[in-house]
Amino acid sequence: MQIIATLSLKGGVGKTTIAMHLATVIAEDHPLVTVLDADEEVSALRWQQHALADGVRLPFQVIPADRNSFMRQAKDLARAGHVVVIDTPPNNREVLKSAATIADVVLVPVLPTGLDVDRLGTTLDLLRDLEAALDEFNYAVVLNRYDARKGMAKEANQALDNLPRLTTVIRALASYEKAFGHVPSDLVQFREIWNELTASTVPAEVVP
Ligand SMILES: Nc1ncnc2c1ncn2[C@@H]1O[C@H](COP(=O)(O)OP(=O)(O)OP(=O)(O)O)[C@@H](O)[C@H]1O
Ligand SMILES: [Mg+2]
Repeated sequence: MQIIATLSLKGGVGKTTIAMHLATVIAEDHPLVTVLDADEEVSALRWQQHALADGVRLPFQVIPADRNSFMRQAKDLARAGHVVVIDTPPNNREVLKSAATIADVVLVPVLPTGLDVDRLGTTLDLLRDLEAALDEFNYAVVLNRYDARKGMAKEANQALDNLPRLTTVIRALASYEKAFGHVPSDLVQFREIWNELTASTVPAEVVP
């Protein structure tokens, strides 16, 4: 598991939040972790800049994706031993496809409303199209900002059950909202996600 991408055509679903929290968890086990910021809004880079301005170093580096060669950039980093987490922009099919093409696993966050689950369809269509062209392709939908007190959220959760999805559901927590510019500290759910991702990957050598 060397390249992970968070992506969705939809904006504001938690791509950057998940990328930064997951990178923090991965950095507990790996000395070299890079978040590759492929979003022109550079939220991940700004997160790092805000931390540095407070004299705080994140436990991983955030670097901007090279506009015209970011697949090669990610592969080079992986070859140099980095675990790479790619944060992507919304509404950008080209970046979405590039990130998905090179990722070992793609995480697609979705918010727990009927509208959001419905709009997931376009992103999934694109991913299924890529799946047809690639030998190996893993993607999983992850429900984000889940609040079990909301009936609607439970319905949205059930609606994902016939899709490839993570069993871990990311709850709506104020600590995630406050994490921007800091080292993410509320990591329990992201450790669960990382465990789920690493447990479900069958090493190539044991595949018959
Ligand atoms: N589980 C959560 N609980 C509470 N707040 C959350 C959660 N996930 C994300 N947020 C908040 O939702 C907002 C959008 O999250 P984020 O910026 O990570 O989404 P994004 O998909 O990267 O957005 P964009 O498409 O603009 O890049 C942010 O204010 C973030 O703090
Ligand atoms: Mg973002």
